[in-house]
Amino acid sequence: MYQQFDLQLDPALYSLDAEEKAFFRALTGINNDNELKAHVIAVQKKAFEVYTHPCIRTFDFAWLKMSRLPAYGNLLAMAQERPDPILLDVGCCLGTDVRRAVVDGFPVGNVVATDISQALWDLGHELFRSSPAHLPFRFVRGNVFDPAFLTPALPLPTSPTVTPALPAQRLTSLAPLQGRVSAIYAGAFFHLFSFAHQEHLARLLAGLLAPAPGSLIFGAHGGRPTPSVWAPAPGASMDCHAPDSWRALWVRVFGEAGVRVAVEAHLRTTERGGRDFFGTWPGNAQPFHVLEWSVTRL
Ligand SMILES: C[S@@+](CC[C@H](N)C(=O)[O-])C[C@H]1O[C@@H](n2cnc3c(N)ncnc32)[C@H](O)[C@@H]1O
Repeated sequence: MYQQFDLQLDPALYSLDAEEKAFFRALTGINNDNELKAHVIAVQKKAFEVYTHPCIRTFDFAWLKMSRLPAYGNLLAMAQERPDPILLDVGCCLGTDVRRAVVDGFPVGNVVATDISQALWDLGHELFRSSPAHLPFRFVRGNVFDPAFLTPALPLPTSPTVTPALPAQRLTSLAPLQGRVSAIYAGAFFHLFSFAHQEHLARLLAGLLAPAPGSLIFGAHGGRPTPSVWAPAPGASMDCHAPDSWRALWVRVFGEAGVRVAVEAHLRTTERGGRDFFGTWPGNAQPFHVLEWSVTRL
């Protein structure tokens, strides 16, 4: 299980690349690099009080990640090809990735972002100087493992059915999205949970997926060359799949409902400003691998 740690903030870890700085400049209107850094660090401090987690400490929450995955082009294509495709970001944190998708053309009214923390989502508005009135994402707070919030359901059989648009009323759970979501994104999310919970989560997300061929679940999180527990430091451990075991998991989850999927999965070793996710931890000799993946209905 991925645990909470005794971590201290370190402003020296701030490292937005050129594309990310341009993205922040465009959305916040802050054009001076030093001002931008001070602004991001100020929001980071508040976020860290809510969620004492490495992804806040390393500024991971401000990185563009979804748009750099191989399946991202398929997501953007859906916005052109489907009448009302729904994008769901599970564990959206401050909402950096969904903002990128909207800038790149995905209709904001069709995006649902969900997280267990309302406070982190609200801090996203502070980070990007946006307001819910002007950026009408649907945000719905909840725990994905709470069956009242995300009720387990078998994946629908694949068919060319056109999925109805998002209901107009405010969402209070993910129940209205069962079998209706064209694309589900899960960034740095699965690795928070045990192997057993990861498989359960895969089943829960599979039940949300729209029946049309091409419907997509994709993401990235910690992985290893063999399925194993990554334990970089005392008190920190992560249940990590390997590409083969991750592919097998999704084929099993959908196969039980007679649904065929194509699964892409590969590992990437992180090289982010010379520091990996846990690279600044003393005694950490184990590199952090990112498992990048997508599951597509055939
Ligand atoms: C490591 S962050 C990843 C955030 C973002 N997707 C990214 O790639 O940077 C994990 C997020 O999952 C949320 N989270 C943790 N457990 C959750 C749960 N059971 N249900 C919903 N969200 C959860 C946390 O609040 C946090 O925002």
